[in-house]
Amino acid sequence: MTQVVLSEIHGKVGLIRINRPEALNALNDAVVDGIAAAIDAFEADDHIGCIVLTGNEKAFAAGADIGFMKDFDYMHAYRTDFITRNWERIKTARKPVIAAVAGFALGGGCEMAMMCDMIFAADTARFGQPEIRLGTLPGAGGTQRLPRAVGKAKAMDLCLTARMMDAQEAEKAGLVARIVPADQLLDVTLDAARTIASFSLPAVMMIKESINRAFESSLNEGLLFERRAFHAAFAMEDQKEGMAAFMEKRKPAFKNR
Ligand code: CAA
Repeated sequence: MTQVVLSEIHGKVGLIRINRPEALNALNDAVVDGIAAAIDAFEADDHIGCIVLTGNEKAFAAGADIGFMKDFDYMHAYRTDFITRNWERIKTARKPVIAAVAGFALGGGCEMAMMCDMIFAADTARFGQPEIRLGTLPGAGGTQRLPRAVGKAKAMDLCLTARMMDAQEAEKAGLVARIVPADQLLDVTLDAARTIASFSLPAVMMIKESINRAFESSLNEGLLFERRAFHAAFAMEDQKEGMAAFMEKRKPAFKNR
């Protein structure tokens, strides 16, 4: 049986590949459970400092698997906590997760990319929330994360007309951190991930947590959270090492402590 999720270690970076090319990487439980298990393993591995989630050149993921969910009834969706149960493992990751998106990122695929901390897009990437065509709505955070990323007008446009947005439009709108030529997507994303993984992991985690606060609290609460994390950073060996190394004009040797 083919493995629908592949995971690899590249130095200090954990790479997760969604591997259902015959279904444009449509996301069923086997895929999402596989991604969650890979994240569990990378989070538990002290040598990993950053995680990359990707698909293939045609699709990051063309959405939740329609065949898999089409006959769900309300009680099944509710009792199994569909989406929340396994998809949200991406959201709860404490190490940074970068989505490397080429081709389609539609419906749940776009939503899964948005659960990651940032999106690097190939110039071939196409984003959209076409659930309206299926008589339903985005159910993995699309109605919440998309407007936060691109604003209300564009989110309404995408969710209500089902049109797709190309990489250029997505970058201009703020959904995407970088656009990369398709044949360099993985190399560039792994390079960025390696850079992140070369820093102090607790500092990286504090920055990720603090930026996420910007979307989950008022400005004052967010600033207070950031300030306390900044104060706490003075208790870290890595802060002492990083600043000493700067003063001594040498490279820091972080210990993740
Ligand atoms: N679920 C299940 N199978 C899917 C799928 C999906 N979301 N997307 C594509 N596939 C399958 C197709 O059924 C097809 O399988 P067969 O070869 O066995 O027929 C295969 O992948 C290739 O797809 P197409 O032949 O359709 O390829 P295309 O290039 O002509 O079209 C596409 C590409 C425009 C992406 C089209 O496949 C499409 O519209 N897919 C569905 C997109 C969608 O509606 N996504 C939202 C799903 S609902 C959701 O995600 C809910 C949520 O918020 C959690």
